[in-house]
Parts: sequence; structure tokens; C-alpha cells
Amino acid sequence: MSNGDNTVDLGDPQLTARVAEGVAAVEARLYKEIDRGESFVSEKALHLTAAGGKRFRPMMALLASEYGERPGCPDVITAATSVEMVHVATLYHDDVMDEADRRRGVQSANSRWSNSVAILAGDALLAHASRLMSQLDTHTVAHFADTFEELVTGQMRETIGAGEANAIEHYTAVIREKTAVLIASAAYLGAYHSGATLEHATALHKIGSLVGMIFQIVDDIIDIFSDPKDSGKTPGTDLREGVFTLPVLYALEEDTPVGEELRGLLTGPLTSDAAVDRALELLHASTGRQQALDAVQGYLDEVEHELDSLPQNSATAALRQLAEYTVKRVG
Ligand code: IPE
Ligand code: IPE
Ligand code: MG
Ligand code: MG
Repeated sequence: MSNGDNTVDLGDPQLTARVAEGVAAVEARLYKEIDRGESFVSEKALHLTAAGGKRFRPMMALLASEYGERPGCPDVITAATSVEMVHVATLYHDDVMDEADRRRGVQSANSRWSNSVAILAGDALLAHASRLMSQLDTHTVAHFADTFEELVTGQMRETIGAGEANAIEHYTAVIREKTAVLIASAAYLGAYHSGATLEHATALHKIGSLVGMIFQIVDDIIDIFSDPKDSGKTPGTDLREGVFTLPVLYALEEDTPVGEELRGLLTGPLTSDAAVDRALELLHASTGRQQALDAVQGYLDEVEHELDSLPQNSATAALRQLAEYTVKRVG
């Protein structure tokens, strides 16, 4: 579906071209805004920005802007750029927290330089994102404040762990906050800055959130079940950090020898490579992947329901396709 230059076929050729043009404008704006100030800062902040990424959030913003009178207008581009900057900033910080060594197919910033450099590079991106939002309006700045507060809450909730809470409910809250909220924000801001009605902007916000839930569950499946050549990340990263994602939580509930061995193994972070390999083997033999995919299907059904409240046009058909595309990443 993607031809490698971030152009995703959205069905309707004119819509596809408009969204691709918008994403290209976001791309150019990212470089323009980040490549400023001291080069020892900008080169670090450009490292992950230039390493690519799917630009999924800008695409979501551009698609949502189709519901207003000004699809892809300059304010939509500014909003979409700032959302991608916030996203990339969280990737820098996330890799520090997760001690990840690969990101977007390249060395993570923490691994290439240091934790301090990675944290500051993420902060630089947040500074640039704030500058862009100040060029929009205070509603956008307030919306961002709420969005980022939730995102940080999700990362903190994950860091603290489930404690006595139900592990699957805890997981669901974490992914809604750390991932779904920003994708929802991209959709909302795209709609809002294009002049869409509040009713449509609200529906798109909900759809963005649901797509975000699907997106993170699929990402968590990939972390365990995919070839690093395809994902650009090291498999089992979450396990090593003692972060148990949905397929793992389901596997842990299994009343089988696989489930029992996993429960014995996963009492905390996995330190040795052999333990990670064994855990991955057991997870492959479990029903964790299938159960997580069933949960994904539930969210897909909810997306369908929300899409019914939007005008049935090419953008709505594309959103339907995008939700399905998010799932196809898992193969
Ligand atoms: C990665 O997001 C972090 C998650 C929220 C799962 P993406 O999968 O959108 O990462 P890039 O932007 O394509 O690198
Ligand atoms: C990413 O979470 C969410 C944010 C960056 C806020 P993960 O830690 O699950 O994502 P990956 O797998 O490193 O991309
Ligand atoms: Mg991570
Ligand atoms: Mg993380």
C-alpha cells in the first residue's frame, strides 16, 4: 500500500494526491523548523526526524481536514507538523525509558549519543512544536496541553505498573493515553483547522482514538512476533523492560503448560538473552497473538460504527481503508 515515499493509496486518486501533497508540505516544514539554532542541537533533533517514519499522524490530520472547507490549508499543515514533532519528541524520550537501541531503522539517539542528549533532543522538538502552535490559536495550545498531559500520564502509568489493578484494564488505559490520544489529536486538529463542524471534528477525534488503540496493539504484537528487518526495532524490547503488553497478558492467563512456564519466567524484567528467547518461543506457542487480534477486531467494529456518522464520501472510505491498513502491518 505504501510505495516507500510515504504515499499511501487512499482509493480516490485526487484525494490520494491532495493528502500526499499535504504530507510533503509537512515534511518540508519539519526540516525548516528543526534546522535552526545551534547545529549541535539541530543535528540531534534531525536524527530521528530524518530517519523517516510512517508520518501516520500528519496523514490522519490531512485526511480529517477533508471534512472542512479548507482541506490541507496552511493552518492544517502547521498543526500536522506540530503533532508529528510532538510524536518524534516522545520517541526520543520513550527510547531512553525503554533503553531501546534501534528506532526507525537507525540507532536510537540514546544509543548513538547518550540519555542526556536524547532527552534534550526531544525537548528541542517540543520547543519547536510549541512555537508552531503559538502561530495557530490558544484553543490549539490548550488542546495540546490536555493531550500532552494525558500522554505523559500514560507513560507514567506504564512505568509505575499495574500494581493491584486489573492488568488488562491497566494496559488499555496506558495505550489510550500514551498513543491513542495523540492520533486522536491529529484527527481533531486537522478537522478543526479546516473549518469542519464540531460534530464532524468530534467524530474524527473518536475515530482517531480508536485507530490509535488498534495501532498500539498492533505495534505490541509486532514487538513480539515480527522480524526486526521489517519493524526496524529489536524484538522483545517491551519484555526486557518488564512491560507486559496485550498478547503477553493474554498468554499469561492461559491455563496451559505454556501459560504456566510463562508465569514462572515473567516475574519481572528479563535480563538474559536466553530468557527473552525462551519467552518469545512460548509466546509464539500461545494464543496471545490471536486474542490480541480479536481485541483489534472489536476496535475495528467500533470504527465502522463511528464512520457511519460521517458523510459517506471518499475521505470516509479512505479512513475505513486506513484503519484496515493499520492492522495489515501485523501481516
Ligand atoms: C511508534 O509510532 C510509537 C507508537 C505509538 C506505537 P509509529 O509507529 O507511528 O512510529 P513512526 O512514526 O512510524 O516511526
Ligand atoms: C510508544 O510506546 C508510545 C510513545 C512514544 C508515547 P512504545 O514504547 O510501546 O513504542 P515503541 O514500540 O518503542 O515504538
Ligand atoms: Mg518503546
Ligand atoms: Mg515505551
